[in-house]
Amino acid sequence: MSNTIVVYYSFSGNTRLIAEKITKSLNSEKFELIPDKKIDLDLLRDKEFFNSEAKCSKINDISKYKNIIIGSPVWARTISPPVKWFIEKIKDDYKGKVSFFCCHSGVIGDSFEFIEEKFTDRFLTKKGFYNPLTNLSSCFEEVDKWVNEFKTK
Ligand SMILES: Cc1cc2nc3c(=O)[nH]c(=O)nc-3n(C[C@H](O)[C@H](O)[C@H](O)COP(=O)(O)O)c2cc1C
Repeated sequence: MSNTIVVYYSFSGNTRLIAEKITKSLNSEKFELIPDKKIDLDLLRDKEFFNSEAKCSKINDISKYKNIIIGSPVWARTISPPVKWFIEKIKDDYKGKVSFFCCHSGVIGDSFEFIEEKFTDRFLTKKGFYNPLTNLSSCFEEVDKWVNEFKTK
């Protein structure tokens, strides 16, 4: 069993693509968060949604992994609600090391600060990927570099 798991949410495939690439490079495991209430375009038009809880009931037991890499799209200059829900869920009990990546279109906002604050003593490394589906080769090169950095931590 790998000692690392990649846990992510993806609406339109960018974060999934990076999560899969990281998983292959590290030979790790992965788990996609699926919100109980399906997120669709109507929900994304509702500003209230961004402050609401996006619960994802089906989650793996992550306590057995030494490392977790959490991935999220950036929405409204912060981490997406399903990933925020997951972070809140694990922050007090998970004892391993936490790394984070986000996929974005140029404005990361408070994404890094948000997660670093939650895991101060356990936070390892972070990375943003700019529109991966349209910048495939450069993002894949960046994943390789980041994975190597992660391995040395
Ligand atoms: C509702 C919504 C809000 C977004 N807000 C931001 C933002 O604040 N900053 C940014 O750089 N990109 C923003 N984006 C773009 C996404 O972060 C970007 O396309 C990301 O790669 C999507 O990841 P995904 O395909 O895994 O869902 C937003 C996209 C959506 C759908």
